Order: sequence, then C-alpha cells, then structure tokens
Amino acid sequence: MNDFGYLGEGEVYLDAACQSLRPQPVIDALNNYYINHNSCGERVKYKWGRITDEKVEETREKVLKFLKLKPKKYTVSFTLNTTYGINLILSQLKASEFNKVMTSDIEHNSPFLATMAFADRTKLPREVMERSDDGSINTKDYDFTRAVVVVNCASNFDGRKLLNISELIKTVHKVDGIVIIDAAQAMAHSVDIIRGLEPDVICFSAHKLYAPSLGVIVWRDELMEKLDYGFVGGGMVDDVTEKNFIASAEGKEHRYTRFESGLQAWGEIVGLGAALDWLEKLPKKDWENLWQNTNNLYDFLKSSPKIHLVNREPNPTMTFYVGGIDSHLLGEALSRENIMARTGYFCAHYYLDHVLGLPPLVRFSLGLHNKPADIDKVKKILGKILN
Ligand SMILES: Cc1ncc(COP(=O)(O)O)c(C=O)c1O
Repeated sequence: MNDFGYLGEGEVYLDAACQSLRPQPVIDALNNYYINHNSCGERVKYKWGRITDEKVEETREKVLKFLKLKPKKYTVSFTLNTTYGINLILSQLKASEFNKVMTSDIEHNSPFLATMAFADRTKLPREVMERSDDGSINTKDYDFTRAVVVVNCASNFDGRKLLNISELIKTVHKVDGIVIIDAAQAMAHSVDIIRGLEPDVICFSAHKLYAPSLGVIVWRDELMEKLDYGFVGGGMVDDVTEKNFIASAEGKEHRYTRFESGLQAWGEIVGLGAALDWLEKLPKKDWENLWQNTNNLYDFLKSSPKIHLVNREPNPTMTFYVGGIDSHLLGEALSRENIMARTGYFCAHYYLDHVLGLPPLVRFSLGLHNKPADIDKVKKILGKILN
C-alpha cells in the first residue's frame, strides 16, 4: 500500500496501539482544512465555516455508521482522547443513580484510574472484576445492580477481547446499571466485537484509528437523565441568564454539545472523517496482509524458547519479554535497527506487574502500514539478538 509512502527505507513502526500511522489521504484532509477552510465549526456563517460544518456533521454520521448504531438513539461528541472521554462521563454521572462502579483487572490506566477517582468523589464502592484468559467476564460472579461498569472490549497488551460483551451489556441493563466501553484498541482491528451492540457509552481515540489526535464519545441519548453538568462553557447554550443557562443539548439536533465545551479540534474531526472513508474503501487484501503479518510474527515469538509471550493467540498487539534481557535495553537495541517498539507496562501496571508479576515487557503492535518485509526484518534482528 502506498498511502504510507512517507515511511523511510527500513523504518519499521510497531507502535500502532499507541498511535496508528496516518495514511496520506488523512494527512491531505487535515492540510486541506488548514489551507482551504480553516474555520470554527457550528458558529460561523461564512463559506469556510459552512464547509467545516458539513464535514464535521458527516464525520459524526460516519462514526455511527462505522459502529452500526442508530442516529435516533446515539450521539457522537468529540473530545481529546479516550482517557478524557471516560473521565468526562464519570465526572458528571449523578452518584444518586448508582450503587457502585466496576472495572476489570486488565484495564488500561485510563479507565482503571478514572474509576478510582469516581469512587473517591461519589463515595461509592469500586469493584475490580477478573477477566478470563479469553477476555470474557463471568457475569454470574458479580452483582451489577445499578452499577457503572467501565471495561475495555480489547486489551492494549495482548488484544484479548471481551468475548461475552453482548451478554454483559444485557445483564447490566436488566438491573439498571450502565456500561461504558473503552474501545480504544478494538476500533483499529477488532471493531466487529462492538458493532451494533448498545452499551451506554463507547469511548475511543481517533489517533489509534488512522486519524489525527482526537477523542470520540459515542453515547446513548438516554444517558442525559443520569448526568449533572460539570464541565461547561462556550458552544453549549441556546441562552444564558445571570444565574442559569439553557443547554443546546436539550434538543436532539445539538445533543453532541453536551460534552463539547469550547472550540473543538475541527481539522482533526474532518481528518477522522477522511480516515473512516479510507477504512471503508480499503481492499480486503490489506486486512489479510495485517493478519498474515500478525500470524507470522506471533508464530516466530511463540516458537522461540527464550521468549515469554503474554498473548495466548495471535493479535496485531503482542507483548513479551526475553529471559535474561532487560526489555528497555532490548527496545533500544531494536531502535538502533530502526525498529520502533514500546517497552514497559503500557499503562496496564496493575495487571502486568501486580497480578501477573511480570518484568517490564516489549510490545509490538502492527498496523495496516506494515509490510511482510517489516516482519522479516524483525525476525532477523530479534533472532540475532537472542543468539
Ligand atoms: C485500551 C486502552 N484504553 C485507553 C487508552 C488511552 O488512550 P488515550 O491515551 O488516547 O486516551 C489506551 C491507550 O493506549 C488503550 O489502549
């Protein structure tokens, strides 16, 4: 694929789980915004503003289409990133509506810490659920009555998925709880796990989905009843008196403003629209290439006796350590060969360090930009280091 033609010869980028590389059409869309219609959205009556409005509106529609959700029930709001989205929602939930907050042991610090802060603020109990090796949650083990459940649907260290996500959502809804899904990882390679399901909130980061840096909150309109206003400002109101305001979000047409205080990252939103177009048109062979590369690298890591692989099955995101070699030093050695990989605990300290007791790890996360030659190079260099 030549949409990543800007990559230098021999540069192997394996950090897509942090930020995917942006394909050229996305970079072009962002440039086009700056050069041809640099303007504020949703307020501006001149021509540039109208172009921005149209593209921003299209992006909201494309997000719902990508997730197979109905515009009648759901709203798309933009923010900084997944972390900000989750915090924004939790910080405004009315404590009186809930009995407790629940998360799981394999979470990224983003929901893990945000649920701690929520419990602190509301004085509600917090429960950390165990995820099975296959990523599912045994719903029979827990009481979800009026619970706020915040969990990922794909992990950021081995990609394991919340296989029974549909059952979880139904179980929680039956007893008046809500489900907030962290889809930061799933969006890029495992979106089928969440498509068409109806949790209360889905948060994700556009920068992990081939788009510019941006957070997305997809939320069920009914959630409004369970929210207090907490983070407010420009762009959110129809009218303001000395002591009160009428929020634009009260009407469906401008419901998205509920989480969009102040100016938004208009160019980035337009860029997300371009990324979703790009993904929609992507030939099947590019997805096949991603999974072939994944399987190829996974088989190599799995078959090497010195490598301790955390993954139980192939996933574009794989994590390991090599007995007797410090992972950070290994990361540096790979970097000297132009192989860009991450080392450490990848913001999943609790599970990797305290539950599994693992040393710092190396993470390879593949994206649609990777070529088979990248994997051959990694195998060759890593093989050399191991020997
Ligand atoms: C599963 C998961 N959740 C949340 C996040 C946080 O994303 P961001 O830093 O974009 O807010 C990440 C980032 O890697 C992640 O992988």
